[in-house]
Amino acid sequence: MTAHLSCCNARCRAAFPITEPIYTCPRCGALLEAAYPDLALDPAATKRLWRERRMSNAPLDQSGVWRYRELLGFVDTSVHPAVTLREGNTPLLNAPRAAQYGGLDALVFKHQGFNPTGSFKDNGMTCGATQGLRLGMKKVACVSTGNTSASMAAYASAAGLTPIIFLPHGNISYGKLAQALEYGALTLQVEANFDQILALVRALAEQTGIYLLNSVNPFRIEGQKTIMVEMLDQRDWRVPDWVIVPGGNLGNISAFGKGFRELLALGFIDRLPRFAVIQAAGSAPFERFWRERGEFQAVTEPETLATAIRIGDPVSWPKAIQVIDESNGVVEKVTEQEIADAKAVVGQCGIGCEPASAATLAGIRKLTASGVMKKDADVVAILTGNVLKDPDYIYKYHTGQLKTPSGESLRSTFGNAPVVVPNDPGRIAAIVEKHN
Ligand code: F0G
Repeated sequence: MTAHLSCCNARCRAAFPITEPIYTCPRCGALLEAAYPDLALDPAATKRLWRERRMSNAPLDQSGVWRYRELLGFVDTSVHPAVTLREGNTPLLNAPRAAQYGGLDALVFKHQGFNPTGSFKDNGMTCGATQGLRLGMKKVACVSTGNTSASMAAYASAAGLTPIIFLPHGNISYGKLAQALEYGALTLQVEANFDQILALVRALAEQTGIYLLNSVNPFRIEGQKTIMVEMLDQRDWRVPDWVIVPGGNLGNISAFGKGFRELLALGFIDRLPRFAVIQAAGSAPFERFWRERGEFQAVTEPETLATAIRIGDPVSWPKAIQVIDESNGVVEKVTEQEIADAKAVVGQCGIGCEPASAATLAGIRKLTASGVMKKDADVVAILTGNVLKDPDYIYKYHTGQLKTPSGESLRSTFGNAPVVVPNDPGRIAAIVEKHN
């Protein structure tokens, strides 16, 4: 059986053609995923091939997603051109200062903020846009807390598709909104939250035939799984003890789990890492579900200044819980203060990230404190977005003006406010001298 769409519900498992523009199972309503039952690869030869492609100037080889195209068999890129902006290729950065703050001997960040539009969404969008083009779609749409929209706008425009974006009014960072405008998207700010708009856009896509590029789109997940493949390639295939990732709509953790599952089945690795998903305390329905089980309960009014993960009803939770359970993983939640302080520490490493990304370091600090994560563990944390995504948050934090959604002031532990001085060389020299 060739590449097809498979229902994720273990009791259904219905199969559909890979070219059907559907996002959920028409029989049972569960999420779909791309499946490749016939895939067999020689691990040693394939790892060598992927390494050799790093030396090639061919556009597909230069992409940190399409370099691993043997794992992306939903499309034949020699027939259907891939929409690529040289995404992926993101570094592993050693961060001793963050390690110390997190209670670890060592910590490595995989920084997805080095992507063309500054977030991990590009890894998925290159595949989603490629599939949209291959299906002959003209218009693509998404609802977004900001990064998906920036990424979709760029990839759609690069492909000659028309991007239409729906944003929760007043709740996305200015930098992300600006990107959507600059990349040429029709941008609609809706007076509703992410979860409400997603329901609306899903219905709209069904009625009008617009192609939906939220993470319910199974091809976005295909691209995002390569973040883990590239990370392993960079580590010479040493599987870390832990992979830490912030959780919003839970597409990324679902993709990471799928990537690892496939590599294990193909014999590229011999074990899984433990995954930890970190949520913001005001938007943590998955953390609650993991702790209490029973029915999944959405948070109706999600809150957090880490607006990228301000999501109360994450669509991919059934996939995500499978990843956590099969990897002996954990889910943790962190406060606004913990996120803000961890973010400043990532900045002090000379690395920097956007607020949602810093949930990883805040989560690590909690997990080492509670003894769940050992001090000498081999940990890779994913920084999902670039430091420039949300400059307003940074300025307010360092000048003591950052306030939680309920208006409570956040104490700036690592405050570093800009100093205003007159044009007086003597006074300036004195300030510089005192600073150490
Ligand atoms: N970090 C950042 C920077 C994000 O933009 C998002 C999601 C996440 C983490 C969470 O990832 O949803 O896969 O669990 N942003 C989406 C958006 C929802 O619309 O840009 P997830």
